[in-house]
Amino acid sequence: MKIGNVDFNGNLILAPMAGVSDVGFREVCSILGADATCSEMLSCRAMLHNPKKTDLMTISSSYEKIKIGQIFGHEPEIMAQALSYPALEKYQIMDINMGCPAPKIVKNGEGSALMGDINLASQIIQTCVKNSKVPVSVKFRLGINKDISLDFGRMCEESGASYITLHGRTAEMGYSGKADYEAIARLKSAVKIPVIGNGDVTDKESYERMLQTGVDGVMIGRGAQGRPWIFQELKGKAFDGDKFEVIKRHVDVLRANYDEDWLTLYLRKHFLWYVSGEEGASKIRLQLATSPSIDESLKLLKEIFKN
Ligand SMILES: Cc1cc2nc3c(=O)[nH]c(=O)nc-3n(C[C@H](O)[C@H](O)[C@H](O)COP(=O)(O)O)c2cc1C
Repeated sequence: MKIGNVDFNGNLILAPMAGVSDVGFREVCSILGADATCSEMLSCRAMLHNPKKTDLMTISSSYEKIKIGQIFGHEPEIMAQALSYPALEKYQIMDINMGCPAPKIVKNGEGSALMGDINLASQIIQTCVKNSKVPVSVKFRLGINKDISLDFGRMCEESGASYITLHGRTAEMGYSGKADYEAIARLKSAVKIPVIGNGDVTDKESYERMLQTGVDGVMIGRGAQGRPWIFQELKGKAFDGDKFEVIKRHVDVLRANYDEDWLTLYLRKHFLWYVSGEEGASKIRLQLATSPSIDESLKLLKEIFKN
């Protein structure tokens, strides 16, 4: 897939995941086969009023092959201003979040709420396209409570989006039920711009099913949690490396950039995902979930993975 002069060189994209897709995780996913990686969603208002937070969230790794920055907001002019924020210069693509169902986002008319105001959504895309130095994409869901993805996707195309990403669920579904791959296939046939399929890709079988929709790329979120090697596995190369070394690298990148106390709490969920399904994991889950230090957690993880 080629977007403007950005050549993806592969079709596997790590999804934006707030509170999950940190720079360390993006680095290990990239080394293990992700062709492009997306930042956590970045608030346009925060960029203008609380830039320190944005600066911390936009730290990136030189191992990321194509860096996608994801923004959210509901005011076209604020979003246009935010696009000139210096920390965004590192991104080769700017993605607009029009799919987040989280109440604190929706109540501000942002994320998936924009699927209920197609005119405003169009205005936002047009304004961002006009003010962005790089191609603009849009990520959305089927709709708020029913499938309007064809109309919405066509609107994105007409408004100047370079490609679109569809998560095959409504906002109301949250993460329940199944992603609708038929809807993804219909959208792919209805627009000329590239379509990225997203939702429930966790293994070779679901990946093949997603590819059958005809999509130009596949975005993976939860399937990569605790399993950054999924990208290389989907490319047909079983992972036979040292999982502990992968975890250690994820941790080291974060330690070089963030406060240790904050990281101690932040990393717990990643550690629990990493050990999920591993032999002996049940014995250390509680210790990991309450671990007072990263070194303590690493010691426990080393024992699990060195056996
Ligand atoms: C913890 C978490 C955080 C997420 N944060 C974002 C986000 O910041 N922006 C976004 O567009 N989607 C976000 N998503 C949605 C994912 O990008 C993706 O669309 C969704 O998880 C479905 O894909 P999957 O089945 O591969 O996980 C998030 C999902 C999870 C589980």
